[in-house]
Amino acid sequence: MNAVAAISRATRTLRHKAATPAGMIPQIRRPEFDFPADMPKYWWDNNPAKTLLLAALSSSFPPGERFFIDSVRYYQDRITDPELQQAIRGFIGQEAHHSKEHKALNGRLQEQGIDLARLESEILDFMNWMRKHFSPERQLAHTVAVEHFTALMAEEFLLKYNALDEMDPRIAPIWAWHAIEESEHKAVAFDVYKSIGGSELVRLSEMLVVSVVFPIFSGIHLVQLMKEDGQLGNLKAWGSLANFMWGKPGVLRKLLPSYFRYYSPAFHPWNHDARWLVEKAKRKWLKPNS
Ligand SMILES: [Fe+2]
Ligand SMILES: [Fe+2]
Repeated sequence: MNAVAAISRATRTLRHKAATPAGMIPQIRRPEFDFPADMPKYWWDNNPAKTLLLAALSSSFPPGERFFIDSVRYYQDRITDPELQQAIRGFIGQEAHHSKEHKALNGRLQEQGIDLARLESEILDFMNWMRKHFSPERQLAHTVAVEHFTALMAEEFLLKYNALDEMDPRIAPIWAWHAIEESEHKAVAFDVYKSIGGSELVRLSEMLVVSVVFPIFSGIHLVQLMKEDGQLGNLKAWGSLANFMWGKPGVLRKLLPSYFRYYSPAFHPWNHDARWLVEKAKRKWLKPNS
């Protein structure tokens, strides 16, 4: 589907304004994961490009999620709706625990020779730059935009397609858990932004910035990790990643309509209700009662 068709499909499907379903409070679970020393180095589909792309993303979670929490917390005492207050607490608890478990994963990958510490410190520098130069409103708009990206990727790329089944079974559960919770709390930052009267211009312009910066950072980091691992010339690995993203199943290509919906004035993260996917994933990947 080309970009014009994607935009027109996206706007056609947004005739009705959605809202966060009543009672949708993100649940804080606190699972702990083990990453055994004999875990294969390329744990997604035995493919360095696919694995190192997710490793690069994992390095961004500790500094990124800290930033998201702070940007929402800044406005917390202005929120009068008790349900949104509860949702904020759930959002903060979920993101804090994601950072903790991904830090453990990043430590294991570092021991396997994948230098994520350098990536993490570069991202932290970028986050600190934004803290210094962006208004609190723009910082929250940044969180809203990235949360839209993460929810889309979690719902389509991890939960809908077979990415999790292609992973080593000792590492798939952390990605499944993270994806489930990203979908559960996808509207919290957006609802806070709307409640404080955040500007549409800032929301949309920040999405444009994120749409440029996020792929550039991820692409540069992936190329660096592939180079450091002696895999830069592995055309089979690159081809398989490109096919997954743009060919068959083409997850990024299929995300375009949902991405463009963000630019509609009627946009709300719950325009796309993926609760059936999340329920299915919870039964498969989470321990009972969690
Ligand atoms: Fe997260
Ligand atoms: Fe999130």
